[in-house]
Amino acid sequence: MHTIIITGGAGFIGSHVVRLFVKKYPDYHIINLDKLTYAGNLANLKDIENKPNYEFAKMDICDFEGIMKLMQDKHVDGIIHLAAESHVDRSIKDPFTFAQTNVMGTLSLLQAAKIYWESLPEKFEGKRFYHISTDEVYGALEMTHPEGITPPFTTTASSENHHLAYGERFFTEDLKYQPHSPYSAAKASSDHFVRAYHDTYGMPTIVTNCSNNYGPYQFPEKLIPLFINNIRHRKPLPVYGKGENVRDWLYVEDHARAIDLIFHKGKLAETYNIGGFNEWKNIDIIKVLIHTVDRLLGRTEGEDMNLITYVTDRAGHDLRYAIDSTKLQRELGWEPSLQFEEGIEKTVRWYLDNQAWMDNVTSGDYQHYYEEMYAHR
Ligand code: NAD
Ligand code: TYD
Repeated sequence: MHTIIITGGAGFIGSHVVRLFVKKYPDYHIINLDKLTYAGNLANLKDIENKPNYEFAKMDICDFEGIMKLMQDKHVDGIIHLAAESHVDRSIKDPFTFAQTNVMGTLSLLQAAKIYWESLPEKFEGKRFYHISTDEVYGALEMTHPEGITPPFTTTASSENHHLAYGERFFTEDLKYQPHSPYSAAKASSDHFVRAYHDTYGMPTIVTNCSNNYGPYQFPEKLIPLFINNIRHRKPLPVYGKGENVRDWLYVEDHARAIDLIFHKGKLAETYNIGGFNEWKNIDIIKVLIHTVDRLLGRTEGEDMNLITYVTDRAGHDLRYAIDSTKLQRELGWEPSLQFEEGIEKTVRWYLDNQAWMDNVTSGDYQHYYEEMYAHR
């Protein structure tokens, strides 16, 4: 496997995957294919942009002809597909863009790869189409234990890294898809197309479903970077509903390591869940963020609690996500490397140290969107 397209490489998770592959595999040729929407930012890749094994292609994944030509010209033998519209709140306002990019874009990549690879003498031999998806396709889990229980897992990573679980059930790979938001519905649809290309044409595909990621370079419309920035500037923190919803958080570099492992060692046609058994209620995370930002800025810890502002709940807000990644841990030996407290400390430090990055992404188009979205809060 030598020439790999990584789609969405200028986004949050994609930039960590591109960086890992460019640094770890000097013999590979890595093509970062990205349309550079509001969420794509080449500043995320400054440190590797001049590496000889890296190339950027500004392209829309819906541009079937363009992708065909790129695959033929560069003899592409692997695709790691992350490009997507990724924010639930935006999907509620503008579902069409989500269907276009996440469904039609994935389909156009699949079809281009199929036609190009089938035209080669070796056909699908040595080829790989790896689709990155989300745990949100499984829907929402109940919260049977609002006070939290110890999760019943025995693998090393989960027993060392786990936080409390808020229910007995977890997302496993065999669960039926039950997406609720336009975002997760579009991701679910794209996952089905990827599997259909395996089952119908024999395409060498893999799908993974990961829990919420956090870490450097995340666009500040998502909870963690938005709130770090707001605490810093003493702006209100818009907590949806009662702040009781539960998310399962993974440090982004642990996701990138899992992608590397699965791309190279995962079984074709399989699905793997990725997550670190790390469930948190939103309000608890927000308190940790306030304490951490206050401490790192030399303020009195907790003095910014008054920024918490409860606002109208998100429409169709999924109550609880919790990933069971036992299969990945057992079959491929992956485990998360960081305790959540360490990951949050690193993340808060990064945003505080990189105010220029934050100022850059919160200017221009985004600022306009931001004002429209958050003006009433
Ligand atoms: P992001 O929004 O930060 O980045 C998306 C990237 O895709 C951007 O660089 C953007 O320019 C690019 N893009 C969007 N539309 C495009 C198009 N039509 N053509 C080409 N490029 C386009 O997203 P992210 O948070 O890094 O998520 C990456 C992937 O991982 C997505 O598929 C998402 O569903 C999945 N995922 C995300 C999370 C999470 O917590 N962020 C968790 C699990 C899975
Ligand atoms: P988000 O980061 O948008 O990820 P997702 O919706 O994909 O899980 O949101 C994480 C959680 O935080 C989710 O339960 C919604 C909540 N949230 C708020 O309470 N306020 C906010 O301003 C945002 C962006 C999210």
